[in-house]
Amino acid sequence: MKGIILAGGRATRLRPLTWVISKQLLPVYNKPMIYYPIETLIKAGIKDILIILAPENSGLFLNLLGTGEEFGAHFSYVIQKEPRGLAEAFILAEDFLDHDDVTMILGDNIFDHDFSKEIQNFKKGGQIYCKKLDNIEDVKRLGVIEMKEDGTILSIEEKPEKPKSMYVSVGIYTYDHRVVEIAKNLKPSKRGELEISGDPSVNNTYWKMGELKACVFESYWQDAGTFDSLLEAGNHMSEKSYK
Ligand code: DAU
Repeated sequence: MKGIILAGGRATRLRPLTWVISKQLLPVYNKPMIYYPIETLIKAGIKDILIILAPENSGLFLNLLGTGEEFGAHFSYVIQKEPRGLAEAFILAEDFLDHDDVTMILGDNIFDHDFSKEIQNFKKGGQIYCKKLDNIEDVKRLGVIEMKEDGTILSIEEKPEKPKSMYVSVGIYTYDHRVVEIAKNLKPSKRGELEISGDPSVNNTYWKMGELKACVFESYWQDAGTFDSLLEAGNHMSEKSYK
């Protein structure tokens, strides 16, 4: 199992913070944001990691993270010239993956969960990770997964106006080697991106093949992509460090 951290994009929602620095380098309490997804992958036993960066500030990431030796891992890097969507990551990662399975995590997703078990139990197809939220306004800006009690997925929607469920797909995903071909065959969505959820998307394709599994978890998760969620993530990590 290899790892990808997707840390590109323009982070327009965080301007002016992100005019001259990348979102994933901003502090979350006492560490640059990208340390958290790195640690989540390493905790899950994934040490061969490709970091996908926007061209701007890519040198800063190299200075900060280097070969990965200090994390006990091995880092490779690739540049995504334009933010053409989350699923483009798998096309950019084709040579790196070399037909291996992969877990991708978004560079602004902060977890306090150990994914080792779920990832070790992965056999084939696609596996997404879902959390039940309380606030419908948060749900509306995320990938929404409607499920039966036994975990069977009934629908997948990206940022729906009227969510059918309070379960969201968070920014970590596990796929087998077919994900590269699936991503290559995707057409851009209405908003012009190669999508991971929604229709068409990577998750939708695996779901239609009957090969998408949803793992529900309850522990802490935050998408630190807005002012309030960035502050909340920092506060959470600060409180945790005093416990
Ligand atoms: O955080 C979880 C959510 O992440 C999921 O629930 C959604 O289904 C998924 O689409 C995604 O939604 P976002 O609205 O958060 O995606 P966003 O466009 O903000 O991109 C997520 C991260 O990926 C962000 O840190 C920037 C980076 N990115 C994004 C795009 C579109 C790239 O590196 N390249 C890209 O082309």
